[in-house]
Amino acid sequence: MIVEVSKGLASWNAALATDSAARNLSFGVSPARQRIFDGQEMNFGPFEGSLGKNIFTFWKGRIALFAILKALGIGPGDHVVIPGFTCFILPSAISFAGAEPLYADIEPSTFNLSLETIESALYSQGHSNVKAIVIQHTFGMPADTERIVSWARRRGIATIEDCAHALGSGYYERSGVRRATGTLSDAAFFSSHWNKPVSTGIGGWALVNDPKICEGVRNFWEEQCVSPTKTETFMLAAQVATRKILTLPRIYWLVRNTYYALYRRGLVVGSSSREELRGEMPSTYAKRMSSFQEWLLKRRLAKCSFEEHRRWLKHAYDTALESSGFPVFNVPSYADPVLLRYPVRIKNKGNVVSEAKRRGIEIGEWYTHPVDKPGDMDPGTLGYNEGMCPEGERASREVIHFPMGPNITEESVLRMVRFVKDLS
Ligand SMILES: Cc1ncc(COP(=O)(O)O)c(C=O)c1O
Repeated sequence: MIVEVSKGLASWNAALATDSAARNLSFGVSPARQRIFDGQEMNFGPFEGSLGKNIFTFWKGRIALFAILKALGIGPGDHVVIPGFTCFILPSAISFAGAEPLYADIEPSTFNLSLETIESALYSQGHSNVKAIVIQHTFGMPADTERIVSWARRRGIATIEDCAHALGSGYYERSGVRRATGTLSDAAFFSSHWNKPVSTGIGGWALVNDPKICEGVRNFWEEQCVSPTKTETFMLAAQVATRKILTLPRIYWLVRNTYYALYRRGLVVGSSSREELRGEMPSTYAKRMSSFQEWLLKRRLAKCSFEEHRRWLKHAYDTALESSGFPVFNVPSYADPVLLRYPVRIKNKGNVVSEAKRRGIEIGEWYTHPVDKPGDMDPGTLGYNEGMCPEGERASREVIHFPMGPNITEESVLRMVRFVKDLS
């Protein structure tokens, strides 16, 4: 383990030593990466602390959302539409900007917002000051973005794609052209958190398509963000270096529980700070990506090759689930998903998840609430009241998800589906 850590840190130090050279390098664009950002005027040239002209890197993906909200001038009195099947960090970023979330329900088959659910939320909750819609591509399945974006543009409402789950996914426009998720709206944000296919431990970036918003995000990034401290960066680098050893599916739940125990003692860099978990804005929330994370992101994006495996896994889960009598995750005609997780609805979620934990099987449970949150946080403080999104509530009671990582084989797919079937 120590050898792994020092190897990781040694290569990091070497990279930092050549950092000034790296800043003047244009790094190679692999075909996969080109597809991820296709349609974009990308300049991977001078590495000026961000990945390109319209890409800005942050300590976490949620800060990229916050930057976009600030660039849009969203603040007190404004509302931002988000799906009622999401993570608490979305409404938190909105409330840290001074605005309020407005929850719209999801479509039961895609777990995403649709134009119909947005209109129905606006009608039933009656807000006129909606300034933006966050279009989350849940589990990697693209939402019907083109319809939502053209509806919003006619009303002067900004659109932001949440691509935290959707790196590599695509969307077929009505014209038949395929475009990468993240390039369909005014601005998008991505996450490179641990559980994402391109990971920098924690991290994320904004991809800004609208030139005015781009200017605003640039100003925010340059003037209002701090850099991570050396200690934070060092702790993160140590975690990244030990990560490889800790990703065996058999010890998934053990690692998860150990991680949270260390986090409570302040010994690891957590996904959410203690203040965030209490619903308070951390004093150094607005934070750029460290040069360590950017170095890792560049390397991992240039090498990324996860798409093919994930497309194959989607097919493998479809086949295994269908032959066991479970519903498959249907792909709408406009979508070309590269899934982060494969969701399935079951009747006895609680039982399956606790048995999976007991037996060390890597089956996930997000989201456990329409606004997935730390156990003791009151959803009311996040603006969510029971009954607002019935489909989001049903999905939180029913949905489990299967992993799509590089270590998942046909045998593990069959084993996990059999495990769920035996308990159903
Ligand atoms: C839907 C969604 N959006 C955004 C994020 C934010 O990611 P980050 O942890 O990088 O802030 C997450 C977390 O994984 C998420 O599930």
